[in-house]
Order: sequence, then structure tokens, then C-alpha cells
Amino acid sequence: MASMMTKMMSISPSMPSSTPLTPSPSSPPSVLPVRTVPGGYGLPVLGPLADRLDYFWFQGPETFFKKRIERHNSTVYRTNVPPSFPFFVNVNPNVVAVLDCKSFAHLFDMEIVEKRNVLVGDFMPSVKFTGDVRVCAYLDTAEVAHSKVKNFAMDILKRSSTVWVTELLSNLDTMWDTIEAELSKGGSASYIIPLQKCIFNFLTKSLIGADPAKSPEIAKSGYAMLDKWLALQLLPTVQISFLQPLVEIFLHSFTYPFALVSGDYKKLYEFVEKEGKTEFQLSQEETIHNLLFVLGFNAFGGFSVFLPSLLSTLGSNAQLQEKLRLEVREKSGESTLSFNSVKDMELVQSVVYETLRLNPPVPLQYARARKDFRLSSHDSVYEIKKGELLCGYQKLVMRDPKVFDDPESFVADRFTGEKGRELLSYLYWSNGPQTGSPSESNKQCAAKDYVTLSACLLVAHLLRRYDSIACGSTSVTAVEKAQ
Ligand code: HEM
Repeated sequence: MASMMTKMMSISPSMPSSTPLTPSPSSPPSVLPVRTVPGGYGLPVLGPLADRLDYFWFQGPETFFKKRIERHNSTVYRTNVPPSFPFFVNVNPNVVAVLDCKSFAHLFDMEIVEKRNVLVGDFMPSVKFTGDVRVCAYLDTAEVAHSKVKNFAMDILKRSSTVWVTELLSNLDTMWDTIEAELSKGGSASYIIPLQKCIFNFLTKSLIGADPAKSPEIAKSGYAMLDKWLALQLLPTVQISFLQPLVEIFLHSFTYPFALVSGDYKKLYEFVEKEGKTEFQLSQEETIHNLLFVLGFNAFGGFSVFLPSLLSTLGSNAQLQEKLRLEVREKSGESTLSFNSVKDMELVQSVVYETLRLNPPVPLQYARARKDFRLSSHDSVYEIKKGELLCGYQKLVMRDPKVFDDPESFVADRFTGEKGRELLSYLYWSNGPQTGSPSESNKQCAAKDYVTLSACLLVAHLLRRYDSIACGSTSVTAVEKAQ
């Protein structure tokens, strides 16, 4: 840990250790050499196409970004990211990749970057997917609507806080009952659908204030409707590592029409209109489309990626379970679990943070230069021009060896103790440091703390219910009930 502090001090000598690597746009440290951003975009059409094939097919995103760091000997460089040629004619694939903690932190500085319509890059899924409303995640902080809608998102979280924990815990019980019933038939039990139903039910009840059971169709298929709606929006940007080159030809070459899911979306809309609590300061339509986006994209989408990685991290490590079980049972005793009770569980929290570090659920973050500025990496300074798109691949950024000791390894207690808490300034899964606070003037995830505390609750609930569990990324193979 001492070496970690030395590392942090060596990259930001004048900063207090609890301060993130906030960029200083106008006056980078004079000791760093100014360098032209290396790399390039290649020939028109062919350059973006070659990069797209490397990204999706020949290399995959992680190797794609890693290899170019090696090639350019720089964590900041120019490249293309998909989607591109042939039918994404209005999408500019040119980006400046920022792949270390220091350069990535520029993405949070709303003085120098803007976030209008760049949630998934220069490509933006049709606003038809959200009822022709540009929802919060696509708004820049300079747009008046951003404050209004971000505050709305934070208000729904506050409103939902009275039922959030009870709904989460009771739906987790239902999920584990289903998995146990399946396991009792012999073999293993897939947990993906029970988990998605759990996430959908608990979020719908808490964020929307509506009970899915009121509509048999939503109760049965609401989660699958959201899956399809999400897939059509994101497919052009997501790697699918099998069935190549068919995927490149048939799945990654087009944008998908909303018409394919319009029937499902209408059903979800009508359900929220009829059953949800929609008394907010936005118009009713704006409220419902934003509620559906927060529910389906931000919350359901985020948890559906994050929780399987947390479960498989736990389920494949018996020693870790034992340590966590001791902490959970000692700290919570017989009392009902709550956000406050998990705040005392230092190892549980650290395991949640470490899982987010190694597998950030939203791997890519983008922002566009609001003006010309100088961007610093650990070792150089680069001139960025107004309008250039910055692209951070968090999976590499969160393994920055200048910040994290033994960065490729899962270190369960990495974020414990005073030094571990200081390291939280460099944990960026939420589009901001874990020590930051979401607000109307930044673009940090509105539910930053709800997400980590809910994940801690899942871990604590699991280790009170079971003495041990064995599972991978999709299935549970054994559980031993608590004695
Ligand atoms: C594991 C679950 C979640 C993950 C991984 C996650 C991650 C993120 C990330 C990375 C962003 C920034 C995207 C960008 O601009 O590049 C974001 C934004 C946002 N998230 Fe979350 N999120 C999660 C759950 C939630 C939940 C439960 C809510 C419910 C209110 C929520 C509400 C939002 C909102 C409203 C924004 C937009 C913030 C803004 O535009 O200022 N998120 N989230």
C-alpha cells in the first residue's frame, strides 16, 4: 500500500491524497513534455473498417486498446471506434482514446468537455426508442433540461428509498427460492432469468412505484421486453464474439428500427401510465419516457451486467466467502439488513468496489472537447481541439499500474483501511470518482451510492442465507444453507 501512495503522489505531486486526478486544463504541470497525439484514422472508409474488424472480431475491445497503447507507446492516441461503414454514414468514428487514470479524469470536467448525445459515442440510437424525448443520459450539463431531469432522477431515488431495501431483499428471497427449486431437480440452475426478474420487480416497485403483478403480461415478460429494447439500441456498439463474420455482416452494419419493439414499449408505457407514481414537475409524457429510460437502461441494464459479475466473483472463491460470511454475520447479527448495516461491512464494500474496478459494467465513456485544451496523461501533455471526441475504455483505465498495485489481480481488501478509502478517488465506474457526488452540474450516475450499497446488500443477504455457494457467470451449481 505504501508503494501505492508513492505512485499516487508521483503522478499528482501537489494534490492532497484524497483529491482525484482532476485535470488542470489550462496549466498542466510544466515538467511534462507536450506531445502530438500519436496514431491516426487511416484512409477514409478503409481505416474505420479495419479498426471496426479489429475491435469486434480479430482482437476484441480490450486487446484493441492495449495493442495500440504498445504501438504508440502512449495511453493517449487517435483511433477509430465502431460503429462505422457501410450504413452509419452520419457517424464519425474518429476518437482520441484516453486510457490511464489521469487522462480519463478529463471526462468528468464539465468546464472542458460536453456530453451532448455522446452516451455511446458519436452514434446515438434513434430518439424513437424514448418516445422522441432526449432523456437525461444524452443531455449536456449546459442544457437547461439536464438540471431538471437529473434532479427528477435523484428525486425518484429519494422517493424510492423507503421501499428500495425491503423490495430488494424480498425479491432476492424469491430469486433464491426459484434457484433452489431448480437445483433440487439435480444438476445446475441458471440464475440469469431469476436474477433479471428480481432486478425488474424490485426496480419497478421502487423506482416507478408500480407493482408488476397488476399486469400479468408485464409480470411475466417485462424484463424480456426491456432486454429487447436495450439490445436494439446497443447492438451496433457491442462485441459478440461468436459467429463471425456473420455478426459483422448482419448485426454490426445497421442501426435497428424502433418498430421492432414499439409494441412492447407501448405496453410498458401504458403500464407506467396506469400503475406508476408520475406526479413530477416534468410533463406526463416526459416523466414516463424518462422513468422508462432510468428503469430500463440505467438501472435494469446496469444491474443486469454488474450483478452476474459479482455473483461469479463470489461463487468461484470459497475462501473469500468464508471471510465475508464472518464479517456479515458478526456485523449484522439477527437484525434486518439495511443500507446502514452494510456500511459497517468494510470487506463486503471492498469486494463490491474491486468487482467494479475489474469489470466496470459500462466499459466505455465518451465526452467531446467543449474548447481547445491541454490534456495530461501521466507522462505527457497533448493539445486537444474543440469538437474532438474523447473515448475512455474503463477496463484498462481501472488497471492503471501507476495507481493500482498488482492491477490485474482481484485483491479483495484493496479498498479497506485509510489507504483503501483514499484509493476510492480513482474508482471511476459511475462516470466520476467513487468519492464524488452526482449533481445537476455533473454527469455522474445519479444512483452511485444506491448501486454499491444494493450490491453490498446482495452479498450480505446471500451469506446470511447460505454457508457457501458455488456458481459461475450464468449458473449456480451448489448451495449449502446456513446452519
Ligand atoms: C449497476 C448499475 C448502474 C451502473 C453500472 C450505472 C452506470 C452509470 C454510468 C457509467 C453513467 C454515466 C454514463 C455516461 O455519461 O457516460 C450513469 C449515468 C446515469 N445513471 Fe447510472 N448506473 C447504474 C444504475 C443506475 C440506477 C439504479 C439509476 C436510477 C436512478 C441510475 C441513473 C442514472 C442517471 C439518471 C444517469 C445520467 C446522469 C446524468 O446525465 O447526469 N443509474 N450511470
